[in-house]
Amino acid sequence: MKVRFTVNGAAVEVDVEPRRTLADALREDLHLTGTHLGCEHGVCGACTVLVDGEPARACLMLAVQADGMSVSTVEGMAGDDGTLHPLQKAFGECGGLQCGFCTPGMLMSALDLLHREENPSREHIREELSGTICRCTGYMGIVDAVEQAAAELRGFQEGAVVGPEQ
Ligand code: FES
Ligand code: FES
Repeated sequence: MKVRFTVNGAAVEVDVEPRRTLADALREDLHLTGTHLGCEHGVCGACTVLVDGEPARACLMLAVQADGMSVSTVEGMAGDDGTLHPLQKAFGECGGLQCGFCTPGMLMSALDLLHREENPSREHIREELSGTICRCTGYMGIVDAVEQAAAELRGFQEGAVVGPEQ
């Protein structure tokens, strides 16, 4: 089946079997391998992308379900000139990643959160990211990163004190 949608603002068309997942279409047909595949059954969150602005597990969604929709992946976070999004920068600065396997899903989930809330509490950040599993970081650096990026996006000075772990 021919499926047309946009990815990070660009119109794309893929010719897929009806059973092909959105994750496989992104990774294998469109070569957007930033969306990671872990469990492939909706548990780990590594494959999280935004579909029409809502977080979705790309391993559970069929490519045909994306027809006519707008998909955002981690490849679209940085600016056209390569400038990292404040969330990407903060993950690097705060130790929000180690092996990086969970990171695309974490970033997309965090992006969704910051679209909805400009100043989430640490507790709420943890709750919102609880659907994405990280085996490396212990989560503290991830929460720090989201808090730092939220502060930057609110226009605070870079390096603003983000408060101790609670
Ligand atoms: Fe999709 Fe784990 S790969 S939730
Ligand atoms: Fe390794 Fe999260 S950084 S799984």
